[in-house]
Amino acid sequence: MGMLSVQRVLSGQLAYRNFLLRPPEPAPQLLVSNPASSIYIGKTLLLHTPFYWNAEKLVNPHVCVVGITGSGKSYLVKTFITRARLVLGASALILDWAGEYADWVRAAGGRVISFGSDGINLLDTGGASPHARSLQVISALEMLTDISSFPAQRRITELAIEKAYARRGFALHKEGQKRKPPTLEDVCKILSRHPKGDSDSAEAARRIRSLLLSSGKSFSAQTISIDSLLSGLICVDLHSLPMESLRSLAGLAILQFVKEKMRASRYSPSKPRLFIVVDEAWKIASDERSDVVSIVREGRKYGFSLIVASQNPTDVHKSIFSNAGTVFAFRLTLASEREYLRSSLSYSDYFEACSHRMGVGQALVHLEFSMPVQCPKNFILERVDGEEILQPFAIRGGNMELSFEKGELLRRLLSAGFDEKQSRAILSEFERKSFSLTSREFASLLLRLGMPRPAILSFLRELGAKEKELLPVFSSISDEEEEVAVSLKGLKEKKQKGDGYASKDRGNPRI
Ligand SMILES: Nc1ncnc2c1ncn2[C@@H]1O[C@H](COP(=O)(O)OP(=O)(O)OP(=O)(O)O)[C@@H](O)[C@H]1O
Ligand SMILES: [Mg+2]
Repeated sequence: MGMLSVQRVLSGQLAYRNFLLRPPEPAPQLLVSNPASSIYIGKTLLLHTPFYWNAEKLVNPHVCVVGITGSGKSYLVKTFITRARLVLGASALILDWAGEYADWVRAAGGRVISFGSDGINLLDTGGASPHARSLQVISALEMLTDISSFPAQRRITELAIEKAYARRGFALHKEGQKRKPPTLEDVCKILSRHPKGDSDSAEAARRIRSLLLSSGKSFSAQTISIDSLLSGLICVDLHSLPMESLRSLAGLAILQFVKEKMRASRYSPSKPRLFIVVDEAWKIASDERSDVVSIVREGRKYGFSLIVASQNPTDVHKSIFSNAGTVFAFRLTLASEREYLRSSLSYSDYFEACSHRMGVGQALVHLEFSMPVQCPKNFILERVDGEEILQPFAIRGGNMELSFEKGELLRRLLSAGFDEKQSRAILSEFERKSFSLTSREFASLLLRLGMPRPAILSFLRELGAKEKELLPVFSSISDEEEEVAVSLKGLKEKKQKGDGYASKDRGNPRI
């Protein structure tokens, strides 16, 4: 039988007994808020305290999200925006680099604007003076091209833009003029009329011409109304623009217009009314001159909140990272990236150890409170408690028409021998392709993850495919493609030793 005995111990020794220490989590009154005015995200790992994101308790409403591919960044953003719209009645503008939000926005009743078929006139003043607008356009070109190394070309281009405005009757320094703005085509014409032998003008004209050629009408015809971008749930789908620099130019231009609108709007610091999502836009998130930084600095006053998501924290400019009131750090694998995170957020060895083991949807959260606090500002989020739109995942091809609910497909992939990371990657591919893959795409994806052909056919049978529907599945997958898959599999087996599908013994399923 146990006996209670009184002992003499020093306070230093007591400190090692965990039951007397508060786990490293912010105090519950900082994490829990009224559900009618805050956004529920998930529970903390240690005390299971529900975490409600409440802008009023934070120094500003900006959010930074980092983590490796497939770690759960976009899932968090979608959950966050869905609830922000419901609870706060806020609007959201998503600049979608990879086209991964478009389907979700449509399913959630929002509007998708596709760059390429729609566009903006880069020279639309958006209420600013023509002089200010030409400086913004030049600054965007400086961020995205090497024009700053050629000061003569930069000056000639700026003068040509101003001349194009003057030809349309604009006063250079007057704001809010209601006239039809010139276009980049007008600028190109002005630059093309250079005196013979003027190589700088010729080069400046070539620069604008090649921009126009590669972007079609995306930057010269204004079909998108900037005002309409600021209310409701809007996704600007940039993925059909052919180059990263064009996507960045479109993103920068939209942010410049948004910033002008923001500055002209009423002062409203109490709660966020517009969330601007910039996901994987490393070129514009890493440059201090970009308006992402201005919105972070000034947005709070106007109720504008910025959500920046990136796979690599070093791609997010320090002033965004250190100014964001909330940081969600999902799993990061590179030591250099974790060091950057740690130097920015200064957290203990405990969090460092946890960050190695984090699964999908789990994140280290850093909160910068508006009031000074004595408790920790970091905690581990057990998992983002998500908001999913019920969308069936389909495998189609010939007469094959298989359809699954997400959880069911995930279970089937796990029981077929894929590990969680591989299964989530397969689900992400479905999401990227509007929730539907052809049987050939599905088979080639499994092949790339190391599943042999016979096993893929058996798996498709298990999923419900008929014998005659299986015949064309591999007909167009080239031997070359399979060789790549096989060598990938070999590499993986060497690297992973016992992890995931590639190393599991699948026997020899029948063909
Ligand atoms: N908290 C979660 N609960 C359930 N499923 C999740 C959670 N987080 C992510 N997932 C699932 O994991 C997969 C990958 O998530 P997500 O697309 O958000 O990754 P990501 O970090 O945005 O990746 P990428 O950088 O490649 O865009 C998706 O199928 C998503 O539905
Ligand atoms: Mg994503």
